[in-house]
Amino acid sequence: MTGVELNSVLKNYIFKIALSFYCVWCLGCGQGSQEIIKPKLVIAIDATFVPMSFLNDQGGLDGFEVDLIKAVAKKAGFDYELVNVEWGGLFGGLITKKFDLVISSITILEERKKRMAFSIPYLQSGVSVLVRKDIPNVNNLEQLAEKKATVGAQINTTSYYFLQKYEGINIKTYEKFGHAIIDLANNGNDGVVGDSVQANYYFNKNKELTQNARFLGSRLTSENYGIVLGKKNTKLKQKVDASLKELLKNGTVQKLHDKWNLGEFAVVPLPE
Ligand code: ARG
Repeated sequence: MTGVELNSVLKNYIFKIALSFYCVWCLGCGQGSQEIIKPKLVIAIDATFVPMSFLNDQGGLDGFEVDLIKAVAKKAGFDYELVNVEWGGLFGGLITKKFDLVISSITILEERKKRMAFSIPYLQSGVSVLVRKDIPNVNNLEQLAEKKATVGAQINTTSYYFLQKYEGINIKTYEKFGHAIIDLANNGNDGVVGDSVQANYYFNKNKELTQNARFLGSRLTSENYGIVLGKKNTKLKQKVDASLKELLKNGTVQKLHDKWNLGEFAVVPLPE
């Protein structure tokens, strides 16, 4: 064998060894195979959205979604810590891995799916519109737009995106949904768009609102709420989905729907 031949045989060997190392390494890189589910999960929830999640009189987290996530965690065998995080901080904290899961009446949207993963839907809801009674001849959003009305919504929610479709409406944004509602009660805006369960709850609770505002039709969109996860957390998603599926099938979610009086404003979906 000449020196040149020896050199190429050697090169061939080195190439094959390197290739086999690369393959073994790659096997470990498959979607989710490197994923380790933390022994204690951090679950974020925005406790300003009654009756889905809120702080009760004792200062504890309470509501439909608090009950639901506890049931999911129990079924999946997760140890967890629930943290109260405001709406504006939920997605950023999930993406930067400060939280492992987020539950906060979050609508599953294609746009959001580019950055985050969602569980199977646990509730179907949508947006409703409240308007001041003293605004005459208004039966739909087009008419509100014609009047150049000021309508409130929580920032970066589906209610806010919904309002953006109506040219002419002056959108007033709020960090918290409750603030939009208080503003409506004080005539700070002409109407408010919000998730229908919550809009109905605040409407009934706030006396001025019950007197001075009315619903414009009923639920205007159909949206699905999902638990939000990191995009690469495939194993975690499988566990969350399996637990949710069981809780949807065995009637637990429906029982919580009844307990929290969600009424016709939200529907428990049937899992496939
Ligand atoms: N369902 C709406 C959305 O996903 C509103 C969610 C607001 N949630 C909250 N906890 N403030 O955009």
